Amino acid sequence: MSAKFKLDMKKRPRRLRKGESVLGLCQETHVSPSDLILPVFVKEGSGADEIESMPGVFRHSEDSLLKLCEKALSKGVRAIAPFPLVDASLKNERADESFNPKSTANMAIKSVKKRFPEITVFADIALDPYTSHGHDGVLDNTGTWLINDETVEILCKMALSAAEAGADFVAPSDMMDGRIGAIRSHLDANGLEETGIMAYSAKYASALYGPFRDAIGSAPKGGPKKYLDKRGYQLNPANAREALREAALDEEEGADILMVKPASFYLDIISKLKSASNLPIAAYQVSGEYSMILAAAQNGWIDLERAKQESLLAIKRAGADIILSYFAV
Ligand code: PBG
Repeated sequence: MSAKFKLDMKKRPRRLRKGESVLGLCQETHVSPSDLILPVFVKEGSGADEIESMPGVFRHSEDSLLKLCEKALSKGVRAIAPFPLVDASLKNERADESFNPKSTANMAIKSVKKRFPEITVFADIALDPYTSHGHDGVLDNTGTWLINDETVEILCKMALSAAEAGADFVAPSDMMDGRIGAIRSHLDANGLEETGIMAYSAKYASALYGPFRDAIGSAPKGGPKKYLDKRGYQLNPANAREALREAALDEEEGADILMVKPASFYLDIISKLKSASNLPIAAYQVSGEYSMILAAAQNGWIDLERAKQESLLAIKRAGADIILSYFAV
């Protein structure tokens, strides 16, 4: 009886899922290595050490970083974003090391651009690796609030030092008000009008940055009450319209690329920004997103390769043109 049973139906969507060839022809979204930016951790000294909470991700010395870049290029990945591990002795309340032309980050930028001029380097602009308290700016005397404009002044110096070191784009990840316009003017005034700005426009106060803060030792210090946590500047995960407002301001102030961070929990924000702006949209699949997938795979609970591909595809499908991902290489 079941053999004879036929639905009277003209439209059968499964016709488009009949075998690899048809599936391939009908695939709407692709992730290609040229879409990706590889975030890299850099350190002084020699060799590379693995980050405990990010299996397979290392802090690289200069040699090891150059080898990684070579590997990235061989896989078609042509962009990196360095983040430095800064020695505690160089950190202070005002992040003076952040604009040292010879900082670990600036030296890494110089050496990558010298050896591989074809790699696009995105320099992170934020004070958290350099402040003794781990916040992205200068604290006021209550210790609970960042002084916006003084922080922006330091960010401008930091952006100029990174641009002078050879960064193709500076990428402010601090969430201070007005920093995109101020950095744009400062770069222009110094003859660096060709250096681009990728703005972390919608950067959420997320629980997913934990492994990154382990990697560079930037977790805010001082106990839960003394300092306000990063919700005094990063966005509230409950909000979407606020992200659109931030992105509109960044675009007006001269940003070249807008970014959403984290990515997977914020696909709706990626999609909304894509409709709201004609700028390229980047999304950062952050450390916690990487580590969650890796930990489940290490337990044998999910398939690493498939979960990785699916996570990147989802971010692309939501509207991201560019993805920062620790999976890039
Ligand atoms: C802050 C900054 C963060 C990350 C990069 N730069 C977040 C934070 O510590 O608040 C996180 C990236 C990641 O988790 O992969 N300027």
